[in-house]
Amino acid sequence: MKTQVDSTTSDGKRGGSVLRELEISKSTAANTEAGLAERAQSWKSVSRRSFLGKSLAVGAGAMSAGLLASTLMAKEGKGKSFGHLGKGDAAILRFLAAAEIIEADLWQQYNELAGIQDTEVPGGTGNPAYTEAVKVLDEDMDQYIHDNTDDEFSHFKFINAFLVSKGADPVNLDQFRTLPSSQATGAQQIGRLTNLMQLTVDTSWWTRYRSDNANPDLGDTFPQAVPGLSSGQFPAIPRNDGDLAPSDHLQAIANTAGFHFCFIEQGGTSLYPALAQRVTDVEVLRVLLSIGPTEAMHFQTWHDKAGNAPPLTDPTNGLVFPDLNSPPFGGEEFQTNLIMPEPTVFLNRTFPVVSIIRPTETNGAAMAAVNSLVADGLFIGQPPEFFALLSQLAQEADAAKQHGG
Ligand SMILES: [Fe+2]
Ligand SMILES: [Fe+2]
Repeated sequence: MKTQVDSTTSDGKRGGSVLRELEISKSTAANTEAGLAERAQSWKSVSRRSFLGKSLAVGAGAMSAGLLASTLMAKEGKGKSFGHLGKGDAAILRFLAAAEIIEADLWQQYNELAGIQDTEVPGGTGNPAYTEAVKVLDEDMDQYIHDNTDDEFSHFKFINAFLVSKGADPVNLDQFRTLPSSQATGAQQIGRLTNLMQLTVDTSWWTRYRSDNANPDLGDTFPQAVPGLSSGQFPAIPRNDGDLAPSDHLQAIANTAGFHFCFIEQGGTSLYPALAQRVTDVEVLRVLLSIGPTEAMHFQTWHDKAGNAPPLTDPTNGLVFPDLNSPPFGGEEFQTNLIMPEPTVFLNRTFPVVSIIRPTETNGAAMAAVNSLVADGLFIGQPPEFFALLSQLAQEADAAKQHGG
């Protein structure tokens, strides 16, 4: 199975495409990769400041830009901002902290509207109609959304606290919490990091985990389970109460969420093992090996539920959710209850097939994750500084080398 799919799929891509996707998401046709690279470079000092700890950033406010830059350069040049961590390990943890902050932001939006709002995951008051539509996929969806959200908050808080405990700087993306909230009943009206209302969801993970003869790490690509979702832009949460009807429109939004949950969590499932290969310190490795599999547990749950999304056509925009158990779908590549990872080729096609997470290529893994999230439309509306910061965090993580990084 090596069907060519939409060019926005993240499978098998490594580096480079984030800037192209950035252009798409920002709708600035005049931008070129080189131009964006330059812009990213020009924002380097801003980015540098952005992911340093809040106290330093606040304290730095009174400093001249030149002094700030030289102070930070001196600090990083001596490796002091990495505390007792190697530069590479600190960079990997910082990137993961940023990724977890982003995850927490999007999951919180889902929880406010379709989850359980309580002291563990506060915020929002729930949207009964959307909650019911999501529950068509499983009666316990509200609990699962709540728990996934709770987990993501715990992930970024732990990683940041771990960084601080080692004398390293934590990550803070608060200055970019500027995107609008859903106007639908139930959502808090606060600034967001992520946009769940214009998503282009890559659903090729569905067939990737069902294939027994292809692997993105070997350059293979995979067909989409929901081709319509992988092109165009669709809301995964109601944008306002006008999205609560007609019923097939609301169900399409809920179905989109169901597939988006999987997209997000399979990404985390790959990211941790990919980056763990370049961690130096055994305790940092333990952190990655202990958090990473929880992403897989999330993915497995969502994978099972996505198969329950009812086939339908959204009457407002024509988005089709096909019957994955019937022709032209169905069979080993699409059948909805085949949710365990099918053994497939790994490392070398001459080896016996093996049941594995895929991809796990370590080179360029952080940038590949950023590319994937950008292509998802998750950051539509964010300024260039945000993309520059994410790119920089990813590049620093990808620069980490094993043994002495
Ligand atoms: Fe996470
Ligand atoms: Fe996650």
